[in-house]
Amino acid sequence: MNLEELLFCPKSKNKIHINYDEKTVYVKNSEQTYPIKKGIIDFIPEINDKISNTYDNVSSVYNSMLTSSNILTKLYNAAVWGLNDQDYVDYVLNYIPDDFNGLILDVPVGSGVFTCKKYPKLKNAKIICVDYSYGMLMEAKKVYEKNNIKNVALIRADIGNLPLKSSIIDLLLTMNGLHAFPNKINAIKEITRVLKNNGYLTGCFYIKDKRKISDLVVDNIYTKQGSFTPPFYSEEEFVNLLKDNYDFTDKNNIKSIFYFNSQKK
Ligand SMILES: C[S@@+](CC[C@H](N)C(=O)[O-])C[C@H]1O[C@@H](n2cnc3c(N)ncnc32)[C@H](O)[C@@H]1O
Repeated sequence: MNLEELLFCPKSKNKIHINYDEKTVYVKNSEQTYPIKKGIIDFIPEINDKISNTYDNVSSVYNSMLTSSNILTKLYNAAVWGLNDQDYVDYVLNYIPDDFNGLILDVPVGSGVFTCKKYPKLKNAKIICVDYSYGMLMEAKKVYEKNNIKNVALIRADIGNLPLKSSIIDLLLTMNGLHAFPNKINAIKEITRVLKNNGYLTGCFYIKDKRKISDLVVDNIYTKQGSFTPPFYSEEEFVNLLKDNYDFTDKNNIKSIFYFNSQKK
């Protein structure tokens, strides 16, 4: 994947030159540079805020928390989310055909816990993975390497100001991100900017007003901790936000988790 053709400087929008030997991204016609840390380009090295710190801190235990991998997390997920398994993840990932041939943007990639079984099947795709937390990106790097996934590039950036050129993405996967993004309107604007016309927007996230216990935990624990950031959308509010620019091909929810597939008009 030729990242220099796809990326630009998120501040100046100038072209970039990537020098892996020097572990530096140079911005053309500018003094600006960005570090490359363990193969991950960091377009927001100055960011060290509550959200990135929260996810850096949970990155090593995130997988076991999310996957009901032991009896405690099973009980926890059943109580908080009313879920016994992560079926919604399969529904989302099944929207992507295994022979998908195009450029995918996965944002936020998180720890790659759910995608590490899907990406080895996507032999014809190229995948750019973006997240705000370096800790989460390092977990994704480890799990992708373990699964011998080579067609991915890992990038630290803010979805509200993506370092990607416009109209280059064929499919944008956004799993469990919208409830975490601080500026959801900017996130949706950027998603729409980088997607090609007729490109697919696929994902899942928390919606309010479906399950009281989940809403209480989100409002009183996750929001304070920084892993979720309001405002939270109801299904109707989200569908209204997208309806001018997207056609939904499928949408559904399991308790408080909404999942959907849509196509940019
Ligand atoms: C709940 S995790 C979801 C990760 C993964 N997609 C999954 O389903 O397991 C939310 C992720 O959103 C990332 N995030 C939060 N704000 C972000 C932003 N402004 N831009 C990009 N990623 C962001 C966090 O760092 C975190 O890794």
